[in-house]
Amino acid sequence: MTIFRSFSPLHFLLLAFFFIEIQAQVPAYQTFKFVNHGDFGQPTTEYHSMYRVIQTKYLNFNIPPFQLCFYNTTPGAYVLAIRAGIPGDGDLMRWVWDANRNHPVGENATLSFGSTGNLVLAELTVALRGKQTRPAKVSLASSYSPIAT
Ligand SMILES: *[C@@H]1O[C@H](CO)[C@@H](O)[C@H](O)[C@H]1NC(C)=O
Repeated sequence: MTIFRSFSPLHFLLLAFFFIEIQAQVPAYQTFKFVNHGDFGQPTTEYHSMYRVIQTKYLNFNIPPFQLCFYNTTPGAYVLAIRAGIPGDGDLMRWVWDANRNHPVGENATLSFGSTGNLVLAELTVALRGKQTRPAKVSLASSYSPIAT
């Protein structure tokens, strides 16, 4: 077979990248895009913040005692964060981790997990001097391992 006779190390490398790329593909049902929009959760929580628990059609990030949320203490300036506590036990659920406290995002910012395995926090930037708006993206994590079933 002539195809294997001409198989150089470069071909092998290209083939290896090809397979690595295939492994990084996330099944469509495990990808999501959440838009920071809609009603707030109740009651208000630590720092008197307003929050939205991140939920999509197929995925729910309300996994007691943790909830992944967007919250704000200033209208329109949201932090992607995890809070912890027992819902409804009378104690505050406390913010225990956040991704972007110093760089809050706005209404309609998105948190997405795409087929490449990148978790991305993005929002539209304001157009300056008539130039087109471009998405500002922060890649939060870029590894993916399928959950064993
Ligand atoms: C967010 O998106 C909704 C629905 O597309 C739109 O009605 C609203 O004006 C947007 N809000 C901001 C602040 O861009």
